[in-house]
Amino acid sequence: MKKSFLLSAAVALVYSQIGTIQAATDKEVEVVHWWTSGGEATALKVLKDDMQKRGFGWKDSPIAGGGGDQARTVLRARVASGRPPEAMQMLGFNIQDYAEEGLLGNLDSIASKEGWDKVVPAPLSRFSKYNGHWVAAPVNIHRTNWIWANKEIFDKLKLTPPKTFDELVAVADKIRKAGYIPLAHGGQAWQEATIFDSAVLSAGGPKFYKQALIDLDPKALGSKTMEKAFAQMQKLRGMMDPNFSGRDWNVATSMVINGKAAMQIMGDWAKGEFLKAGKKPNVDFLCFQYPQTEGSFTFNSDQFAMFKVGDDQAAGQMQLASAIMDKGFQEKFNIAKGSIPARMDVSGDNFDACGKKSMADLKVALKNGSLLGSFAHGHAMPESVKSAVYDVVTKSFNNLQVTPAQSVQQLVKVVEDSK
Ligand code: GAL
Repeated sequence: MKKSFLLSAAVALVYSQIGTIQAATDKEVEVVHWWTSGGEATALKVLKDDMQKRGFGWKDSPIAGGGGDQARTVLRARVASGRPPEAMQMLGFNIQDYAEEGLLGNLDSIASKEGWDKVVPAPLSRFSKYNGHWVAAPVNIHRTNWIWANKEIFDKLKLTPPKTFDELVAVADKIRKAGYIPLAHGGQAWQEATIFDSAVLSAGGPKFYKQALIDLDPKALGSKTMEKAFAQMQKLRGMMDPNFSGRDWNVATSMVINGKAAMQIMGDWAKGEFLKAGKKPNVDFLCFQYPQTEGSFTFNSDQFAMFKVGDDQAAGQMQLASAIMDKGFQEKFNIAKGSIPARMDVSGDNFDACGKKSMADLKVALKNGSLLGSFAHGHAMPESVKSAVYDVVTKSFNNLQVTPAQSVQQLVKVVEDSK
């Protein structure tokens, strides 16, 4: 009698545990993202932990590949087969594309309850909202026109951050003569495009960048100034080691961290790698703007877009959106990630020198119109035009036989054809 009672109690316990597991799975949110490097994973953990505290499981669906090209391809396939995740890391125009297809959910209720409109700057919410409705929650503001440098090499060779492109060429010469690789780079289209953001800004300034890469004005695209940008790219190519092909961006960052290479031109997610390796700004590494881009800000904002799913899952999506927009989260996450908050009301006190500089420059750029969407990261032009321009940039970069004048001609043509 006693035995059978124990047995049925045990069975009941097992069932109740299954019930709990079931409930936990129901309260799970699947998130597709490409944050797989050391720094990226550390930052993402802040969000995973916050979701757990809110009582939701995190179904992690990472798709490796910096810049997110692979993740976007996988997402396309999943959407085509009717299996979109609840949430997906997305950038700029890509958010608008999915919204236009009617696939994204509506976050207006949580956005108005929490007053997102008051704290998210318009150049960001322009991508988070579609037809006036919130469809994505912005996590951060990254900046692409940075150079990351190994301070020990700079000190040893008595170098200071170059202010002009010619100075950068001279600095690179000295570094090469001293036996280091001047520029660490990973030969992937998005990384070349990231450098191109800076080269265009440096060659022509913020107004030119806007005319060419945002307004897609054929005159600007076909100009001598644009030739200068391609010429800079080809010069930069000469500062790299011969093995850059296919190298991941974080491997290139580690070359700077370890003192094999002196500099990397990369968005401030690179800072996440330095921090993860225990390095400190202005002690172990330097951060400064690509020459002749000081004060301008090419931005890239990671957002989480929520797909239209059943009512059961919507609760989890709202919690995720709310967790992302939490002030404390935005501070903690962005300190680890290398970016700055997407909310304008987070104090910069706890950010390091590079973060503080970015926050100060952002405020100025917002006022004087030099806050510009990054071409490389989908914030300047629609996706279809972007991929056509990517091709022109990588062709020029990987084949020095193609002259800057030829690249400019191709640029005008592909933009015209894909508009
Ligand atoms: C960008 C993304 C960043 C960073 C980078 C490298 O597209 O916006 O957050 O992670 O890719 O993976």
